[in-house]
Amino acid sequence: MKLAGVVLAAGLGKRMNSSLPKVLHRLHGAPMLHYVVNTLNTLRPQKIVIVIGKHGKEIREVMQDTGIVSFAEQRQAKGTGDALLKAAPALTGFKGTVIVVNGDTPLITPDTLKKFLSLHERKRNDISLLSFTAKTPGSYGRIIRDERKQILSIIEDRDATAIQKKITEVNSGVYALEIEALDLLNEIPLNRTKGEYYLTDIIHIAREKGMKAEAFRIGTEDEFIGVNTREELEKAKQFMKERIINILQDKGVIFLDPHSVFLSPEVLIGRGTTIYPNVHLEGRTAIGSNCIICPNVRIQDSTIGVGAVVKDSTLIECSVLKKNASVGPFAHIRPGSEIGEGARIGNFVEVKQSVIGPRTKASHLSYIGDAKIGKDVNIGAGTITCNYDGHTKHTTVIEDNVFIGSDTQLIAPVSVGKGAFIGAGSTISRDVPSRALAVSRTAQKNIEGWAIKRQLRVKSSKLKVKELRKR
Ligand code: UD1
Ligand code: CA
Repeated sequence: MKLAGVVLAAGLGKRMNSSLPKVLHRLHGAPMLHYVVNTLNTLRPQKIVIVIGKHGKEIREVMQDTGIVSFAEQRQAKGTGDALLKAAPALTGFKGTVIVVNGDTPLITPDTLKKFLSLHERKRNDISLLSFTAKTPGSYGRIIRDERKQILSIIEDRDATAIQKKITEVNSGVYALEIEALDLLNEIPLNRTKGEYYLTDIIHIAREKGMKAEAFRIGTEDEFIGVNTREELEKAKQFMKERIINILQDKGVIFLDPHSVFLSPEVLIGRGTTIYPNVHLEGRTAIGSNCIICPNVRIQDSTIGVGAVVKDSTLIECSVLKKNASVGPFAHIRPGSEIGEGARIGNFVEVKQSVIGPRTKASHLSYIGDAKIGKDVNIGAGTITCNYDGHTKHTTVIEDNVFIGSDTQLIAPVSVGKGAFIGAGSTISRDVPSRALAVSRTAQKNIEGWAIKRQLRVKSSKLKVKELRKR
């Protein structure tokens, strides 16, 4: 089947009461419109036309990198029928089926659309409509069928009689039309109630002309939610979250409290991984199997290797944790970092754009920035790489098997050779050769009996004060 997609996104979205275009409101990190276009993309259409209006510029900016997408303008929001008419010039020369989707229905699944299109094709319809049963039909258009159960028309809620309002079969806003059927758009009359041209009227017009129009009732209510209000946006977020969590649970991921977890739809998690409460996994984060992600952890666009542990209250940004690495509690892994296999990054340690080798440990209170650290290195408590001289960032290199004593400052650019030792409390400003010991603190001086002398001094001065007061 030759396919083109049209997304209607030129409405004013008044019911959102927001300066942001409705279709750019976000669900779990991505704008609604992204979900709609991604779903259409899975059908491999030849092109996708997004109809944009008053807020077109903002929508173009957000959607321009989405591959085969092009834009059609509807300068005045004169209704969904007019919006599709405005997309028609962008489809000139196209022969085949056009699938139309509203930009405010982000939860529709590729599976449902595939089923719908294959029914449309099999029945050789001129126009097909995707309908569903709504528990509360609310503002959805009602499907009117004749005594032979054939669709006659769609009546919008605001135009429906009390009896029609009770109909629970409603319009999802998804249509499949043979390209020739687009000609009918010119015949849609102005709806007087709202002053708009309703795309829904195309069904009635097609039936009157004896064309083949049919409504297929497939899919579940949750996936067709149309987001018109903030309340509906919250509902959509909730449904999407439940969907993501259900998929992951089926794949063997353990959520201790799924309600408190935030997950982007792109997140991948392996089998046997445990996610504690209040964990945020954002962007394209991939977590291997058998990991433990403790409470209050936020991970953005990062890859976490098999068996890794991320302990409480840790933030990981655009970084990689290799197999069996452990990070946290209270650690900050900043962009561009790689924590090696079995490495340990502990309490209050910040790592920035650094490579930490396998089995290396930095367990307490450190800053590691712009560093390349080899394997089996021990970074003592309170060690700091001084990477910034006020103008430029410099690199610290620490080779394999180095031992860095606690409270060391490494003034970059500097390197520490294989197997070297650094005495605690040192300020290292020159390279340390392999297997050397570097110490830079002043030698310790012990003054015997100093405390006793001090005590005597204090006593005699207190006596003097007393005597002075007596006078
Ligand atoms: C529409 C349908 C309704 C259906 C519901 C499903 C019509 C008349 N009604 O109602 O039967 O049950 O969707 O969610 O079609 N848009 C434009 N230009 C316009 C007006 C709207 O591009 O001039 C776009 C909007 O940005 C939106 C989509 O079309 O993405 C639907 O418009 P909306 O106003 O939300 O229609 P509903 O009242 O929800
Ligand atoms: Ca809507």
